[in-house]
Amino acid sequence: MLTVALVDAQLELIPSSITNHVSVVRSARKRGKPAEKMLLDSSLHHSAMQKLPDANRRGRPDIVHVFIMLCLDSILNQMGELRCLVHTVNDQLITVAPETRIPRNYNRFVGLMEQLFEKKSVPEDSPLLTLREPISATDFVEECRCGGNRIVLFSERGREVRLSKYFKELKESSITCLVGGFPHGDFAEELYTLADDVLSIYPTNLKAWTVTAEILVNYKNALLS
Ligand SMILES: C[S@@+](CC[C@H](N)C(=O)[O-])C[C@H]1O[C@@H](n2cnc3c(N)ncnc32)[C@H](O)[C@@H]1O
Repeated sequence: MLTVALVDAQLELIPSSITNHVSVVRSARKRGKPAEKMLLDSSLHHSAMQKLPDANRRGRPDIVHVFIMLCLDSILNQMGELRCLVHTVNDQLITVAPETRIPRNYNRFVGLMEQLFEKKSVPEDSPLLTLREPISATDFVEECRCGGNRIVLFSERGREVRLSKYFKELKESSITCLVGGFPHGDFAEELYTLADDVLSIYPTNLKAWTVTAEILVNYKNALLS
């Protein structure tokens, strides 16, 4: 079983410190929704975000959207061999059930995530998406390890490997792969110390979805070989 987790995912509600900014007020009015119940999105709230710490890293629900779609539509998921998780910048852990049908349309995805932040599980009667908080990245990784998982962090700073060979030679059948859900910068240093392996799959810096696609396909091929 493979667990893929998007870590430090830049998925959060608009912080109260910028809800009165003109660009935020404008987008809230357009959606007919209180600003504090809306997702922060750098493509809409760029000017307001300049006041926030780590502004160039934040407000990227699109990374989470593509990540979840890749995971759910993968062959590995259809084989019942995948667990898909998102750990957010604010220490929230989102579990995505394998049978979830995630909206292809970005605006509908945003609406669904806003509902999840409010209700903590959607749909309420038989939840497919659940949000647990607070749980630190360290505790979340330790939980995966206690469940018998090898922890593999993907980073351009890691040991260069051919992923197909790495998965084929792996002794453990359960592993948790950690991929950064942020557009710039690096993981907290602590995550490097928690990982059993830190791997680089190419000499340049790749997008989170490129790395995720490589993991999903190479793990599936190793399983079937
Ligand atoms: C867009 S990158 C993160 C930002 C990047 N460090 C920067 O400063 O532009 C997203 C994630 O993809 C993974 N990644 C990127 N390049 C990689 C590589 N060459 N090998 C392994 N993982 C990589 C890492 O998990 C990284 O956190």
